[in-house]
Amino acid sequence: MTKKSRARAAGVSAPAPAAGPADPAAIVRKLTVEQKARLLSGASFWSAAEAPGVPPVYVADGPHGVRRLAPDVGDIEGALPATCFPPAVALGSTFDVALVARVGAAVAAEARERDVDVVLGPGINIKRSPLCGRNFEYVSEDPLLAGEIGAALVTGIQDHGVAACVKHFAANNQETERMRVSADIDERTLREIYLRGFQRVVTRARPATLMSSYNRVNGTHTGEDRRLTTDVLRGEWGFEGLVMSDWGAVHDRLAGIRAGLDLEMPAAGEARVAEIVAAVRSGALDPADVDRSAGRVVALALAARAARPAAGTALAERGDDPETWHDDAHHALAREAAGRAIVLLKNDGGLLPLAPRTRLAVIGELARTPRFQGAGSSQIVPTRVDDALAAIRDSATDVVFAPGYGLGAGSADEALADEAVAAARDAGVVLFFAGLPQSAEAEGRDREHIELPAAQLEVLDRVLAVNPRVVVVLSNGSVVRLSGFADRVPAIVEGWLLGQAGGGATADVLFGRVNPSGRLAETVPLRIEDTPAWTRFPGTGLHVTYGEGIFVGYRWYDARDMAVQYPFGHGLSYTTFAYADLTVAAGPAGGVVGLTARLTVTNTGGVAGREVVQCYVSLPGSAVPRATRALAAFAVVDLAPGESREVDLVVDRSDLAFWDVRADRWHVEGGAYRVEVGASSRDLRVAAEVEVPGDAVTHLLTPGSSVGEAMTHPVVGPTVTALLRAAGLSDDVMIMTQAMPLERLPYQPGSGVTHRRLRHLLGIANGPLATLLARRRR
Ligand code: BGC
Repeated sequence: MTKKSRARAAGVSAPAPAAGPADPAAIVRKLTVEQKARLLSGASFWSAAEAPGVPPVYVADGPHGVRRLAPDVGDIEGALPATCFPPAVALGSTFDVALVARVGAAVAAEARERDVDVVLGPGINIKRSPLCGRNFEYVSEDPLLAGEIGAALVTGIQDHGVAACVKHFAANNQETERMRVSADIDERTLREIYLRGFQRVVTRARPATLMSSYNRVNGTHTGEDRRLTTDVLRGEWGFEGLVMSDWGAVHDRLAGIRAGLDLEMPAAGEARVAEIVAAVRSGALDPADVDRSAGRVVALALAARAARPAAGTALAERGDDPETWHDDAHHALAREAAGRAIVLLKNDGGLLPLAPRTRLAVIGELARTPRFQGAGSSQIVPTRVDDALAAIRDSATDVVFAPGYGLGAGSADEALADEAVAAARDAGVVLFFAGLPQSAEAEGRDREHIELPAAQLEVLDRVLAVNPRVVVVLSNGSVVRLSGFADRVPAIVEGWLLGQAGGGATADVLFGRVNPSGRLAETVPLRIEDTPAWTRFPGTGLHVTYGEGIFVGYRWYDARDMAVQYPFGHGLSYTTFAYADLTVAAGPAGGVVGLTARLTVTNTGGVAGREVVQCYVSLPGSAVPRATRALAAFAVVDLAPGESREVDLVVDRSDLAFWDVRADRWHVEGGAYRVEVGASSRDLRVAAEVEVPGDAVTHLLTPGSSVGEAMTHPVVGPTVTALLRAAGLSDDVMIMTQAMPLERLPYQPGSGVTHRRLRHLLGIANGPLATLLARRRR
């Protein structure tokens, strides 16, 4: 099919003439209530509605490529071909924000060519459990890394004239009952883990749009949650863009409009328009709320139209101009990104990289039939697909192949297994490709376990019995259990899902053309039973309790000092690196910089390589439970053999803060912070301490505050303590009294604190306005 006919088949139409005045408010003022109401839901599956002066906005999934479908087509297979870049699971492992921004730029270029205004990505939900069926679409178990990679993608996309859509806001961490389940999360965990990545992307990359999630948070659908969608997102973080719903996520549209959910997707039909109009007319809906959301749709449409190439260059009219398709350049970029994402987990005896003349046995259907992306809405129709087997054959002189197993096969096929054993017997090195079939992980359903297919493991055992020189090459969108064979194979390569050029990239790493620099963006546990959400995931009765709190991913394993298969941040290289001369300095209170770390990294091996330098921070003795260490900054550094470089790492003050539930705000605690820098969360090479000044946070004292809290209050603490001491309480009684709410004191015989005195103390502690607030907060 020619490119021109491909475009026609997908029903892409030429854009309407360019919009007139670029003032959304002025346009909205001229619209009728019906016209405004119509703008608040999609016109089709993939476009927003038009109005006089308001061109339609075309949206497409996302995030690792452009899935441009005809307006009314929901079917994934019918999309225009586009470059399938590595999915988020792989991009996260690059730890390379510059590279990820280039991927974003390339996605934007393809979106532009396909007349797509908004790319529905990136997805940055936290990987709470390895069982989440959509983990391949998400970046990491760590909010700083998810936020950095997400921000890089948004910047790359938006700097090239296309809007990004950060999703799924928020706490969409499972697929089971995804449209109904309530993620029940305490405020500190919500802020520090599940919102923090979104906050980073919103404040740093200013995405034009954001997608609310299917699930509820603490009982309220996120698209109807005014606190989340307006107070936090817009009020606290300064988001100025448009919020759209996930597809079909709307339950109570009027509540959504009030909460700040601007656009319902996809099309919801005339009944919805009538519902909104009737609500405005009856007074049930404030017309200002409708105007505000309609204004955001108009603003997006005008910005999108302004960013489009001149009218008349729409895809259907442009024809077959090879210049505009970027096929080769984008395929090459997809290969570069995939090469950077591969994580060398183990390489005993330097089995890798392979010499081209090594006699190789390639075993596993996945080498020939790659699994390069996950199933569901993110699925791209690729422009081409490389397989590892062909790329290995291009790189080596002596290669035999045996499929070993069938994809999706439950138990081993004897004939295939025998053939694999025969191929492996005399090989210098066996490349054993293992991984998950598509059916094992997909949007819409969670995984039941983290096991590789039994048939593959059986064949692997038989191969190992005849030849121990085995490199296991993995294809999986979410972690798998490796403990059954990790000790018995000398080398393991984690290849995730690598996009359409993953085959070539795998060969690049195996033969050393690319020195691996991917690092784990998620812990590989020893067993599913060890993971933080085990026993609670995916919840019961439409509620899932995030009882592990902030201890997600490596924070969990480190707090419990648990063994893991491979820790967060782990990944080997064909060279080695030394770390030295760490110095740290604190930034001032109230500034942007929390602390800076400077150190020297040296390539101590014989080949050029890239190190991902990771900086973890903790505060021993903190007033609140804290992670043993948390990633606070990272940097990639390319070094020739023997070369040394000074590496500077800057930790933002906001990344030192914890969410103070008493003060209802972020709070940087003053104290001696421990800074550890190294090659993974469990391979820390240099450490230092630095005294960081704290924020002046005064907690409101309320009648519900404890006596103990009053005794340590900076203003009234000495008076309260003196009063209680004067009451002559014994030490034991004093301890019990400290746990009491202040309002109990007037009823406590001999406490010396009357109602009047208590009111007076609160007034002094809080000041008059604060006292009022404190009373209301009780
Ligand atoms: C997914 C979104 C996606 C949308 C449109 C939903 O089912 O959750 O991530 O962007 O469909 O395809």
